Amino acid sequence: MRKPVIAGNWKMYKTVGDSVATAVALKPLVANANHCEVVIAPVFTALKTVADRLEGSNIKLAAQNCSTETAEGAHTGEITAAMIRDVGAGYVIIGHSERRQFYSETDTMVRRKVQAAIGADLTAIVCVGESLAQRDQGIAEQVVSGQLSGGLSGLTVSDLDRIIVAYEPVWAIGTGRTATPEQAQEMHAFIRRVFAEGHSENAAQALRILYGGSVKPENISGLMAQPDIDGGLVGGASLAAESFAQIVNYK
Ligand code: PGA
Repeated sequence: MRKPVIAGNWKMYKTVGDSVATAVALKPLVANANHCEVVIAPVFTALKTVADRLEGSNIKLAAQNCSTETAEGAHTGEITAAMIRDVGAGYVIIGHSERRQFYSETDTMVRRKVQAAIGADLTAIVCVGESLAQRDQGIAEQVVSGQLSGGLSGLTVSDLDRIIVAYEPVWAIGTGRTATPEQAQEMHAFIRRVFAEGHSENAAQALRILYGGSVKPENISGLMAQPDIDGGLVGGASLAAESFAQIVNYK
């Protein structure tokens, strides 16, 4: 059985004070959520303080990015995966469409970051997803399989334990327009098939695949009812403790 993951991506929102306030408010609201892993991804500057305040709780922490570089060195503005592990985070989001779109991240960079994350004992939440133009052209599967093979090549079977895939159609992110559960299921099943072909049926069955793109308290149950949807990567609706808790407690 795949344990679902509900992850909140706070993007570039919240000061340290606001991050702590939201995390502390969230703690009692999700304390009984044993059915899934609960993850939040604050900004880098808030990670350590939030980690300290959440110690002993069931809420896990993610960073939103890491460096392609693994060794400390002269790379102004960058943060290694090991530094993320050092402040108490266990996950890192890699290859989010906003990073691909606005910071020119390529599949090669995604691959290096994934390897850096695995090397630092982090779980990588690797984002893939097509744009609206690509969906309309009928090349959504081609785009996603290209991102998977470019970003996740060279992984061993044991590395796969450290990988979560997030399918986030770009046209559904922050737009209020969610993929229907059927549209999401179709792509999730496709992603699982790609893993079965590239690795093994066992590895594919163990892989957690999250859906992201306007996940809200109102649509999470429908999404989670699909056989290949193993959780959500939630942006806007994760910023308030109450709405994120409702998503976590979808059952
Ligand atoms: P959204 O963002 O829930 O605000 O659409 C999801 C994401 O970008 O991870």
